[in-house]
Amino acid sequence: MSERLAGKVALITGAARGVGLATAKLMAKEGAQVIFTDINAEQGQEIANSISSNALFLEHDVTKEADWSSILTHIKSKYGQLNILVNNAAILQLGDIKEETLAGWQKVHRVNSDSVFLGIHYALPLMEESGGGSIVNMSSSSAIFGMPHFAAYGASKAAIRGLSQSVAVYCSQTKNNVRCNTLHPDSIMTPMVMEMSAQAGDRSLAEPERAKAYLCQPEDVANTILFLASDESKHINGAAIALDGGATVTPPYL
Ligand SMILES: NC(=O)c1ccc[n+]([C@@H]2O[C@H](COP(=O)([O-])OP(=O)(O)OC[C@H]3O[C@@H](n4cnc5c(N)ncnc54)[C@H](O)[C@@H]3O)[C@@H](O)[C@H]2O)c1
Repeated sequence: MSERLAGKVALITGAARGVGLATAKLMAKEGAQVIFTDINAEQGQEIANSISSNALFLEHDVTKEADWSSILTHIKSKYGQLNILVNNAAILQLGDIKEETLAGWQKVHRVNSDSVFLGIHYALPLMEESGGGSIVNMSSSSAIFGMPHFAAYGASKAAIRGLSQSVAVYCSQTKNNVRCNTLHPDSIMTPMVMEMSAQAGDRSLAEPERAKAYLCQPEDVANTILFLASDESKHINGAAIALDGGATVTPPYL
């Protein structure tokens, strides 16, 4: 164990599976006290004991302001500090601009981007009291590309990027020693992608060859989150980091 996060307390949302779970496991292994949360309490409780003794699972709906408030109160009273926030919970919803409804659009934005506002709003004061820290917001390549079948999802992920940049500048101006960055993966082999592939049917998400070329594993994303969460990245603030094997810089004629 290299203990790259020794002495730090980390909160990771949407962590009962996929990228969040891989990140919780890695951060616990690297010495952090991990609080991993998810709306899926059954799955979260089931894996809680298998992760590590320094990982605590809490049921948490990221769309609920009261949940954020009580989780931050709990972290403050139990651990007295918070150094890392990973806003990871999200949903992927199929629907182009004609199919998507206002209710569907609002649901996606509540889970994917309103939650990031709430998370930062509630966590920042404790992170400041703790002497600083790192916020990692999970965005997506869909914040950069136009994704016709995911009108609401792409827009919600772009909102996260804009918010992160304004938080990053706020933090640097107030010299609070907190950093805020976004990650933009293309495809990650997680339940989210597998469930969507089954649901999307003939509206294939990407050509199989392209999908294969840019696909990564949840552990690849967790390694990047670990770097951004650790002091090794202490001068990276306001960055939007592509994690896509070169997808976003590949010209269309190649
Ligand atoms: N999988 C990909 O290809 C991909 C690509 C780019 C970005 N991302 C982003 O990476 C992050 C992780 O994605 P993943 O693939 O691991 O997804 P996933 O669906 O496997 O896991 C997401 C988790 O979020 C939880 N969740 C959903 N709604 C919630 C809510 N209201 N409150 C709390 N938890 C809730 C789910 O229960 C689930 O455990 C997401 O932000 C996603 O948008 C994923």
